[in-house]
Amino acid sequence: MGFSQVGAESGWRTANTKSIQESAKKAGVELKFSDAQQKQENQIKAIRSFIQQKVDVIAFSPVVESGWDTVLKEAKDAHIPVILTDRSVDSKDESLYVSFLGSDFVEEGKKAGDWLVKEYASAAGPVNIVQLEGTTGSAPANDRKSGFADVVKADPKFKVVASQTGDFTRAKGKEVMQAFLKSQPKIDVLYAHNDDMALGAIQAIEEAGKKPGSDIKIVSVDGVKDAFTAMSQGKINYDVECNPLLGDQLMDLAKKVKAGEQVPRRIKTEEGTFTPDQATAALPNRQY
Ligand code: AHR
Repeated sequence: MGFSQVGAESGWRTANTKSIQESAKKAGVELKFSDAQQKQENQIKAIRSFIQQKVDVIAFSPVVESGWDTVLKEAKDAHIPVILTDRSVDSKDESLYVSFLGSDFVEEGKKAGDWLVKEYASAAGPVNIVQLEGTTGSAPANDRKSGFADVVKADPKFKVVASQTGDFTRAKGKEVMQAFLKSQPKIDVLYAHNDDMALGAIQAIEEAGKKPGSDIKIVSVDGVKDAFTAMSQGKINYDVECNPLLGDQLMDLAKKVKAGEQVPRRIKTEEGTFTPDQATAALPNRQY
C-alpha cells in the first residue's frame, strides 16, 4: 500500500499515523508511507511515485478537497484502486476512488452547535463567538464550519464575530487567538475546529489574564488526551470526538479491494461527545 499522510500537524494526526503503521504491520501489509507536510503538491508527487512503483492499493488523506481529478485519473488508468481515508475530495467523478473511510465532519460541527444552543438556552444574548478554522480548503474545516453555522443560525443571538484559520496547529491557534483577543472587545465562546488549536488558544487566553472555560467557554473537536486533561481542569467545556484509529479498518478494506471484492463506498466512523465529567472519567484509558 502506498499511503500519503497529510502531515504531523496535530495530536490527532500523530495518533492516526501510528494506527495506520501499526495496523499495516499486524496485517502483513507492506506500507510505503509518505508525509506531505500539509502540502497538496507533495501528496500529488507521492501518489505519482506510488503509481510508478506499481503498488496494489493507494490510500490517502487529502490535505484539501479540490484539485485531485488529474492524479486520480492517472491512478485509475494504471488500474490502481484508491481509498480515501479521514478526509474526502470534491471530485464529481465517483469512479476515481473506490471507498471513503472516515468521520462525518458536518455532523461534528452540528454537535458543537447543538451543545452551544443548549448551553445558552436561557441566556439573553448576544453570544459572541470566535472561530478557529482548520486548514483552508480542507474537508474538516469546510464541513465543521458549515455544520456549526447550520445549527447556530436558527437563533440570531449567536454571532460569529471573528473567524480565521489556525491551520489545525497549536502554534497557529495561539497566534490567531492572541489577535482575536486584541481585536474583539467581548468574546463569550471559542469554537475550535480541533483540539490542538484550542490548546494553543488556552495559552493565549491565560496570558491575557482570562480564564479559559469560564471567562471564555470553549467547544472543540477531536477528543485527544491533552484536551481531556484540559477538560479535567475546567478549561474546555465540550469536546466532539473525531476518531483517528482508522488503521485496522483501512487494512481490511485494502485487502478486500485487492481481492476484487465489492466494498462500501462510504464507511462512517462511530463517534461520541464529551462533557468535562465524561472526559475526566475517560482520561485514564484514552488511547490517544
Ligand atoms: O482530518 C482530521 C483533522 O485533521 C483533525 O480534526 C485534526 O486534528 C487534524 O489535523
